[in-house]
Amino acid sequence: MSISTRSFEAITDAFHRASGIRLGDAKRQLVVGRLQKLARDRGMDNLDLYVQSVVQGGDSDELVRVVDKLTTNETYFFREPAHFDFLGELLDSGSLKSPGRGVDLRFWSAASSSGEEAYSIAMLMADKVGRSGWQVVGTDLSTAMVRACERALYPLDRTQHMPPNYLKQFCLRGEGAYDGHLLIKRELRARTRFVPANLMQPLPDIGEFDVIFLRNVLIYFDPDSKQDIVQRVMQRLRPGGYLLTGHAESINGQQLGLRMLRPAIYQR
Ligand SMILES: C[S@@+](CC[C@H](N)C(=O)[O-])C[C@H]1O[C@@H](n2cnc3c(N)ncnc32)[C@H](O)[C@@H]1O
Repeated sequence: MSISTRSFEAITDAFHRASGIRLGDAKRQLVVGRLQKLARDRGMDNLDLYVQSVVQGGDSDELVRVVDKLTTNETYFFREPAHFDFLGELLDSGSLKSPGRGVDLRFWSAASSSGEEAYSIAMLMADKVGRSGWQVVGTDLSTAMVRACERALYPLDRTQHMPPNYLKQFCLRGEGAYDGHLLIKRELRARTRFVPANLMQPLPDIGEFDVIFLRNVLIYFDPDSKQDIVQRVMQRLRPGGYLLTGHAESINGQQLGLRMLRPAIYQR
């Protein structure tokens, strides 16, 4: 299938309005590849007609499906291990502890994709702190990703960077139809919660956090949107809390009142 320039602009504009992410002409083949499956599911083999039905037809349910398809969800357990090493050091040295008796330490995986980042944090916390005293919240723009996070079922090949004892301690190996998969154990799932949230819009009521993972999402935004997102996210960081960004992403920490401690690690 192919797409006309007009339809490409119409669908990427609609995607930009929904997500804040601008897909330029270089992404044309990617857009065609991802949309053709959606068009076929609707019995259409013409992408221009499909785009017309979504955009001009104002089909908001189908637009959610388009947004889910066009976002890039690549992730894996313990990605960018320097962040998990840093967190481990903070916990071992006692510099990261509950702000008060009976108050949980709170972590936010702010573009959680399918949940590997949030469950990596949960595994580290369960290992270092135990089964209580902390919570992890994961949010993502894509509702399909939020459902995947809640399912907590993953192919075993995403665990290459997971410490082997964590695989044993915190995951159940799938059998039969789930062969080659793992399920995150219930005790970790009980301390994690996932909700849809668009970082470009006012955030849902998810509270404040001690550590925020805002990784591998800023890369998709123009400088102004990036600045807006970091400012919005920062309002949810407790004073003294830590903001972690992807190592390929850069933010002007000083301007935002953040102290850079190490590459991609900032403290409020
Ligand atoms: C590459 S994944 C990053 C996953 C994880 N943080 C990591 O570093 O491995 C990027 C995620 O950002 C999400 N995303 C894109 N735009 C967003 C927005 N405006 N608001 C919230 N999430 C967004 C996508 O749905 C996708 O799941």
